[in-house]
Amino acid sequence: MLELNWEGKSAAKKIVANIPFKILTLDEQISCGDKNSGNIIAQGDNLEVLKSLLPLYRGRVKCVYIDPPYNTGAAFENYSDNFPHSDWLSMMYPRLELLRDFLSDDGAIFISIDDNEQAYLKVVCDEIFGRNNFVATVIWERAYAPVNLKKHFSPSHDYIICYAKNFPNLICNGLTRSAEANSRYKNPDNDPRGTWTSSDLSVGPVIEDKIYEITTPSGRKIMPPSGYCWRLDKETFQKYVDDNRIWFGDNGNNVPRIKRFLSEVKQTVTPMTIWKYTEVGHSQDATKALKEIFDGQAVFTYPKPVDLIKRCFELYTDKNAIVLDSFAGSGTTAHAVINLNAEDGGNRKFILIEEKDYCKTITAERVRRVGGEFNFYRLGEKLIDAGKINSSLSFEDLAKFIWYGATGMPYLGRSDSALLGEYDGAAIYLLYGNNNDTLTKTIFSKLPHHDGEKIIYGSACRLSKYFLNEHKIIFRKLPKSLNMN
Ligand SMILES: C[S@@+](CC[C@H](N)C(=O)[O-])C[C@H]1O[C@@H](n2cnc3c(N)ncnc32)[C@H](O)[C@@H]1O
Repeated sequence: MLELNWEGKSAAKKIVANIPFKILTLDEQISCGDKNSGNIIAQGDNLEVLKSLLPLYRGRVKCVYIDPPYNTGAAFENYSDNFPHSDWLSMMYPRLELLRDFLSDDGAIFISIDDNEQAYLKVVCDEIFGRNNFVATVIWERAYAPVNLKKHFSPSHDYIICYAKNFPNLICNGLTRSAEANSRYKNPDNDPRGTWTSSDLSVGPVIEDKIYEITTPSGRKIMPPSGYCWRLDKETFQKYVDDNRIWFGDNGNNVPRIKRFLSEVKQTVTPMTIWKYTEVGHSQDATKALKEIFDGQAVFTYPKPVDLIKRCFELYTDKNAIVLDSFAGSGTTAHAVINLNAEDGGNRKFILIEEKDYCKTITAERVRRVGGEFNFYRLGEKLIDAGKINSSLSFEDLAKFIWYGATGMPYLGRSDSALLGEYDGAAIYLLYGNNNDTLTKTIFSKLPHHDGEKIIYGSACRLSKYFLNEHKIIFRKLPKSLNMN
């Protein structure tokens, strides 16, 4: 396999395994609206936050959009964008690995980037996501006028690289046909099938059977142009005429054309790879729109336009999808989700991660101002410290990690009893808190019953090997058994 190498790559490949799981603590003051909205804004380094969210969301995210620092060498007002080239790649590598694990099998990731790193990023993505999962590189026209101070070219586009988790499973929704596209359909002959447009009846290269003379209603005789034939054979053409599907013009004297009814065309449009600012907005639009949300104050440099990110989600999310942005900046991704849900009655959820303190004052504040509901989390202490489970961890939170460690799957249960659930025929139990974390005969007798194998997590076990075998119990000692990598 062709691979990009850089100084520090082998270390970057080991990072994910060594990042500790941390507790995400809810900040109710900043959280907004319904506690069960399912939307999350988390402040912290995305490497750590992603790792800590993985037990809950592995394989459940339908669409990731990220807009990492482009490594332009600029020091932006809000965040730094100046890494040595190899450091930038080492920064991205483990994060992309984690993001891949969040994606569902029919999911997709979009990554905004410019020429500073796009070629390198593409090769790294080929390695992480698989070259056969490459979907497209979109060119977004981000500027509408040249900067004349530039000596050579004035860059007017960014790239958005798109990969599937598993390409054969990725389904593109297409883009909704615009009102403008529909307005090109007219009904000059009052056809009861509704509005239509017409397309050329001639086509190349020549197929001999499809060259024949057509007589128009006005009596004019017409042959296909030289080097062309008709699109339909003679018999099919006659059927089309009988069904009023051929248009000879208002006076019946024109070269015939095929009528295409709006009711019969696909209601969605396949996206092209150039996204013009007239369709999805440009950079200045985005800055202006954000300023308006913050009462005329310029709070963030270079946000993306809402419609740009909305288009990514329009293409690859269903109405109940979870989307994730781990470089959230001013929170455009949440805004795009809110707008898309409002348009199509969807119930998509968002997870945003931003490390800077403005996560509260800009990211969360913007989402609040545009009507979003969310729980706000901060990265807390390590789940396991000095060989002990962090005492501030609730039963509910530990249950998520236990389940993930045992099954590799996110925990979707209720965690309202020691029996967390069944997986592959085995019941998984957690003994934790209230001095109930030691497995004894009395404790065992009080556990909800399960006939088959029982995997019980706890801090100590006072049962004999014989008893364990007899009752099909596998005891896993905490915290040693909490292996979640
Ligand atoms: C280019 S901006 C994203 C802008 C965003 N798309 C918008 O429309 O506002 C990149 C953001 O990623 C954040 N960021 C960079 N490294 C990060 C990390 N390791 N963890 C979390 N956020 C990070 C930066 O602070 C910055 O806000």
